[in-house]
Amino acid sequence: MSPPEHFTVAYQINPWMRLDQPVDRELAIKQWDGLRTALLDLGHQVHVLPAVAGLPDMVFAANGAFSVDRVVYGARFKYPQRSAEADAHRAFYEERSADWKFVAPTQVNEGEGDFAYVPGRKLILAGHGFRTETAAHAEAQDVLGRPVISLRLVDERFYHLDTALAVLDDERITYYPGAFSAGSVRVLEQLFPDAVLADEEDALAFGLNLVSDGRNVLLNTEAGAYAGKLAAAGFRPVQVDLGELKRGGGSVKCCVAELRP
Ligand code: ARG
Repeated sequence: MSPPEHFTVAYQINPWMRLDQPVDRELAIKQWDGLRTALLDLGHQVHVLPAVAGLPDMVFAANGAFSVDRVVYGARFKYPQRSAEADAHRAFYEERSADWKFVAPTQVNEGEGDFAYVPGRKLILAGHGFRTETAAHAEAQDVLGRPVISLRLVDERFYHLDTALAVLDDERITYYPGAFSAGSVRVLEQLFPDAVLADEEDALAFGLNLVSDGRNVLLNTEAGAYAGKLAAAGFRPVQVDLGELKRGGGSVKCCVAELRP
């Protein structure tokens, strides 16, 4: 995680970002710290990547890389405003090269924003349409040695895969069908007939932008109805208020780069 010490909306690269609505940075820092504390309380370890001045979106740490079984496929951001973030993430892994093998990308991809791993199936789910290029899906498959299922995102409000789909445990996923092309929905239905389905309201509340440890699911407070669906499916929702981060177009998942050691 990387603290929102320099968080602001200084440019607009997704429909949630509004240049005319100021960000309350103090509040953002407080909310971010609430998420960090919630993770620690659940027994997880959190590394903090220091914020860098001039990189207002760096709080969205999920975009910095994507790793599977200690191989790290680096990010290459679509927009120049964020491109330097990739170097900070790369340095994090290279400083720990005994544990992580870092591979630099040649194709545009935004890390865990557009890649998700389903451990029990040894499958990678990957989004394209707004940020990550399909060429990066092929590159990730080569680098990580796991099949990559390409899914096309069609609604600009859900511009990253992690705003529309999440992995809940080793086998189960959850997604909002309206964010995907009809063909991609058929692929998801075939592979995951037992998925927890979300509706538009759940997705707009950024409910799908969650982090799950297989039992506890951390998600935005706004997504109350969706938390009920997760509870009905046997998970334990833990709601965290990240309202201020939503002004940048992100929530819980965007703030966490999962290391899965
Ligand atoms: N403002 C950031 C962007 O548009 C938000 C990134 C959200 N991160 C995520 N993993 N979905 O790039």
